[in-house]
Amino acid sequence: MSTIAPPKKPQINTALPGPLGQKIVEADAQFVTPSYPRPSFKLVADRAEGVWVTDVDGNVFLDCNAGVAVCSTGHCHPEVVSAIQEQTAKLIHMCGTDYYYRQMPDLARKLDEIVPIKAPTRTHFANSGTEAIETALKLAMHATGREKFIAFFNSFHGRTLGSLSLTSSRVAQRPVTLTIPTARSTTASIPFPLTASSRKLTLRVTSRARANALTLTVMRKRTRATSPFGKRLKRKRKRAGTRS
Ligand SMILES: Cc1ncc(COP(=O)(O)O)c(C=O)c1O
Repeated sequence: MSTIAPPKKPQINTALPGPLGQKIVEADAQFVTPSYPRPSFKLVADRAEGVWVTDVDGNVFLDCNAGVAVCSTGHCHPEVVSAIQEQTAKLIHMCGTDYYYRQMPDLARKLDEIVPIKAPTRTHFANSGTEAIETALKLAMHATGREKFIAFFNSFHGRTLGSLSLTSSRVAQRPVTLTIPTARSTTASIPFPLTASSRKLTLRVTSRARANALTLTVMRKRTRATSPFGKRLKRKRKRAGTRS
C-alpha cells in the first residue's frame, strides 16, 4: 500500500489579514514610515520553510516568488541557517572597506570560477541591490568619463537616489520628485526594446540622450504614446474614463 503523503496545500483560515495581522498592520501605520509601497494585499509573515509561508494568524501561503527572488534555496534552508548561526556566533561585524577578512576573497574566488564572465574577475561586495546599481553608475561614469544614462520605462533599480533616477516602475517614480535634479536630468527613460519598432525608438532616443531634461520629457511622452505599453495604457485609461 502506498504511504505517500498527500501534497501540502495553502490553507487560509481567516479573513486577510486575520485579527493578529490586522493589529500589526495598524501598529505599522502608526510607527513605521509610510514610504514603503506595500501591495494592496496585506501579508503579515511570521515564519517560513521551503516554499511555505505562515502568517501570524496561522494561514499558510505558497510562495511562488522565493521571497523577493532572494531565497532561491527556499526559505530557511537548514544549511543557510546553520552558516548564518555559525558566523554570527563568531564575528558579527567587520568593515570590509577598512579591514580584511578571509570570507571576502574566498567568496570572490568562488564567483570568479562560476560567473559567466571571462576570468580574471574581481568582485565588489554591496549591502543591497540598490547599492550595486549605484556602484555600476559610478563605474560607468569613471570608465567612460560620461554622465548620461538611459533606463527603460517600467524598470525597477532601487530606492537610493541614483537608482531611483533610473527607476520608473511606478507612476509615482516618474515625475521629477525625490531625485537629485542633476541625476534625473541626465537620465533618459525609453521603452524596453522588445519589438522591432521599439528597437528603432531605442536608437532614436540613444542618439538624443544628450538632450536636456525638457526634451527628454517630450520624448518620453512621445515614446509612451507610440509604444505598445503606451497604447495599452491609453486604452485602459479611456475605458476607466481618466486622462493620461
Ligand atoms: C532588478 C532589481 N534591481 C535592484 C533592486 C534593489 O534591490 P534592494 O532592494 O536590495 O536595494 C531590486 C529589488 O527588488 C530589483 O528587483
